[in-house]
Amino acid sequence: MANLAQKALNIEDLRKMAKRRLTKALFDFCDKGSEDQVAMRDNRAALDGIKLMPRVLNNTSARHAGISLLGKEHGLPLLIGPTGPAGFVWYRGETHLARAAAKANIPFTLASTSNTDMEKVYANGGGTQWFQLYVWRDPEAAFVTIQRALDTGFEALVVTVDSPVYNNREIDVRNGLVFPPKINMRTAVDSLKHPRWLLGTAGQYFLNEGKLPAFTNIHIPEEAKAEATGYVSAKSTSFLNRDDTMDWDYIRRIRDVWPRKLLLKGILHPEDAVKAVEVGADGIFVSNHAGNTNDTAITPWDALPAIVEAVGGKLTVIADSGVRRGSDVLKGLALGADVVAIGRSTLWGVGAAGEAGASRALEILESEILRTMAVLGVTDIPSISREHIRLPAELPASGFGQA
Ligand SMILES: Cc1cc2nc3c(=O)[nH]c(=O)nc-3n(C[C@H](O)[C@H](O)[C@H](O)COP(=O)(O)O)c2cc1C
Repeated sequence: MANLAQKALNIEDLRKMAKRRLTKALFDFCDKGSEDQVAMRDNRAALDGIKLMPRVLNNTSARHAGISLLGKEHGLPLLIGPTGPAGFVWYRGETHLARAAAKANIPFTLASTSNTDMEKVYANGGGTQWFQLYVWRDPEAAFVTIQRALDTGFEALVVTVDSPVYNNREIDVRNGLVFPPKINMRTAVDSLKHPRWLLGTAGQYFLNEGKLPAFTNIHIPEEAKAEATGYVSAKSTSFLNRDDTMDWDYIRRIRDVWPRKLLLKGILHPEDAVKAVEVGADGIFVSNHAGNTNDTAITPWDALPAIVEAVGGKLTVIADSGVRRGSDVLKGLALGADVVAIGRSTLWGVGAAGEAGASRALEILESEILRTMAVLGVTDIPSISREHIRLPAELPASGFGQA
């Protein structure tokens, strides 16, 4: 598998490898966004539309891409964000992602919809690990999960705040996708067409554990267990539908019980970013959830400048959604982010070849970051500034150079 992953020259190659290995329903879940895929396209168009302003003859031979983030030194201006189904694309895939992140010395975020026990991922993954929280229909139940993440040792809690209702992912409904995957004629045929996934992932779970894994990192109260299935239905009254009562007071309650770093994920409005400062958050993810939640949301890249100005350095700004190249990472930093997060790049990597695939994704991004730093004439990440990019509106009226 390591050899296979080494053949990937870029993130798109890993995506194609994952597509060949995974069932159609799983691949589409990882690959596509909600409704008409507009936000996903916009994310790429926004990044492609930003042009770099190269600087020359600066002797960039001693380049290093390390950063200081939330009080720790890390190897790259990158982190792995939460991607729920990692354990379905590879046997115990969350641990593989955590190990790849630890090897690259970047933070890894474990999703609450993961299915390897958080204690096992934490112990076997190593490195810097954060835990992401979704709040479901019973907001009090989330506090049990928060306490468990605290006891386990996670260094930061990432509360996702952009999903008060379940995503309108029509593609999953069409594909009949539910978690844990159900076996019927359609899913059986899809699985048989993808024997490497069937034997290497589903088969491993059946062999070692007798069944496909369930959500083990969400506290589901006893009385809600019967209803905690099939969470892809937008109309579902199941426990596993999102909580639409969440408000800033609820975040204050979390702040009171979580003494370590607290991050809010899915902020796009400068006033919400300021509120995040007021409730005592240590950081925010400026993110449109890679087009998975609201298909008409502004892109984080368009939202970033106003947010960075509004918070004035009072918290850490993380940006994500659509990053596929090292140059995208540097564009995000030039727009004012402190660090950039990735989701699909390493998810495709792990879906293609486990830890080796996730590591390959990080190697590719690292080499692209270092190459682009040379082109920009900088030797370290703090030297990246707004001066290194031009936005579409700042380019000549001829339109040359615009996406
Ligand atoms: C398949 C998939 C599952 C995801 N699961 C979660 C999740 O459980 N919680 C969450 O906050 N974000 C989740 N996200 C969003 C990512 O954390 C991140 O915001 C996004 O993927 C970044 O964009 P990129 O995938 O284009 O790099 C998921 C994204 C994908 C693609």
